[in-house]
Parts: sequence; C-alpha cells; structure tokens
Amino acid sequence: MLVKPGQIQKVANMFMNAVHEDEIDLINELYEKLKVGDLDEADKLMDELLVDLEDHFSMEEELMKEADFFGYPMHKAEHDNMRKDFKKVYDEWKKEKSPRKVMTFLEEKLVPWLKLHVAQWDSVTAMHIGD
Ligand SMILES: [Fe+2]
Ligand SMILES: [Fe+2]
Repeated sequence: MLVKPGQIQKVANMFMNAVHEDEIDLINELYEKLKVGDLDEADKLMDELLVDLEDHFSMEEELMKEADFFGYPMHKAEHDNMRKDFKKVYDEWKKEKSPRKVMTFLEEKLVPWLKLHVAQWDSVTAMHIGD
C-alpha cells in the first residue's frame, strides 16, 4: 500500500475528506496494478485518476468561490500545477506504458504533494467553508 489511512490529514469538511479517501484508494489500487504489471487495469485506473483529480480540484474550487475564500487564487494555482504535472505523466503513460515511470511519479510527486497540499491548503479552506 503506497498511502496508508491516516497519512492524509483530516479536514473540517466531511465531503472533502470523503473525496480524499476515495482518491487515496484509487492511487493505492493503481500502484498495485502497476507493481504487478497489469497494464490493462492500470490503464483504466489512469483514466479514472485523471477524471477523479479534476472532479476533486474543481469541487474544492467551487466551494471556495461560493464561500468567497481569500486563498482561492493560491489554492487553485497549486491545483493547476498538479493538473499539468499529472497530464504530462498521463500522456507519457499512453505512449510508453511504462509502469516504473508512473510509480515513481506517485511515490515522489503525487503522494508527497497530496499530504502537504491537504495539510496546508485544504485544511485552511475547510476551516473557512465549514461543514
Ligand atoms: Fe483536496
Ligand atoms: Fe485542494
């Protein structure tokens, strides 16, 4: 398991926590399929993760806009960086189907980013918008 439950901080909004938990499950599942070299399943999960990340980020951005959250531009800029980074890895995967490349991205980029991002931006945002 790449991400253990509890490694991603809980925030003050239940809906955001639920989205984070589902995403962690998806990342773990993808990581396992890549590890065993199941390219077909990994490919489906890469498609799912692309959609999931977009849903996750745009949901938070909508909440921030509704609540007039002061940190919206900074929080969104962080999402935009990850949208770009993930899309690059996703496009490479579609061409090369290299499990190691995606695994390295999950280990070294996405998971550390998610831990930090949730602790910094999502937690402040959730406190502002409430439950
Ligand atoms: Fe989030
Ligand atoms: Fe966020």
